[in-house]
Amino acid sequence: MAELQKLFDNNKSWAAAQVAADPDYFRRLAGGQTPKYLWIGCSDSRVPANQILGLSPGEVFVHRNVANLVIHTDISCLSVLQFAVEVLKIEHIIVCGHYGCGGVHAACGSRQFGLIDNWLRNIKDVYRLYRSELDAMSDPNARADRLSELNVIEQVKNVCHTTIVQNAWAFGQPLSVHGLIYGLHDGLLRDLAVRIDSPDALEAIYRTRTHVSPRAAASGFVRPANGVVLDLEA
Ligand code: CO
Repeated sequence: MAELQKLFDNNKSWAAAQVAADPDYFRRLAGGQTPKYLWIGCSDSRVPANQILGLSPGEVFVHRNVANLVIHTDISCLSVLQFAVEVLKIEHIIVCGHYGCGGVHAACGSRQFGLIDNWLRNIKDVYRLYRSELDAMSDPNARADRLSELNVIEQVKNVCHTTIVQNAWAFGQPLSVHGLIYGLHDGLLRDLAVRIDSPDALEAIYRTRTHVSPRAAASGFVRPANGVVLDLEA
């Protein structure tokens, strides 16, 4: 445990400082969480959601993976999204990328890095969508930074394409999805001016209608506040 001793020491002083400033601090947090935001960001150790946003424990629900991807078969990301939207009733989802993202840089090239290449393949799919714009850029760093921005925009759409977000909108739950990018070099967040708060902004093929069969509606198990129960026998 010697290797981790410094972390335990840090933790002890942090917890003591919190209690010194606010004796009720942990008792209150243990009572529950009511975060207003869901942050979907990169795993990069230099992009910690709470510090960047100036928020304390309890104020932001967080999901991080390499290159802040929202993949429609990723049960971890989808579970975070479902819990955040349907149970915590989060009103703002922030997808945040960052300049100088190693995952995005790797996806721009052809060198293999192992299993992770299969994850980064999703970024290559974004590249393909914007190939003419990206191929026209001669500076590889500028191209990767632009791809980081475009990747955020596509992941914002991926969040909106889920049944989770579309059902929330169908039930009138206020929910906005925002795209931001963070500069490692200056510590600042930039708004990519992509904000989606209704299915109207989505391409038609991705819009889905919430279906509640009459039998399911009559069963009393359909509670909009907790999502939708689909009656598959109807
Ligand atoms: Co990154």
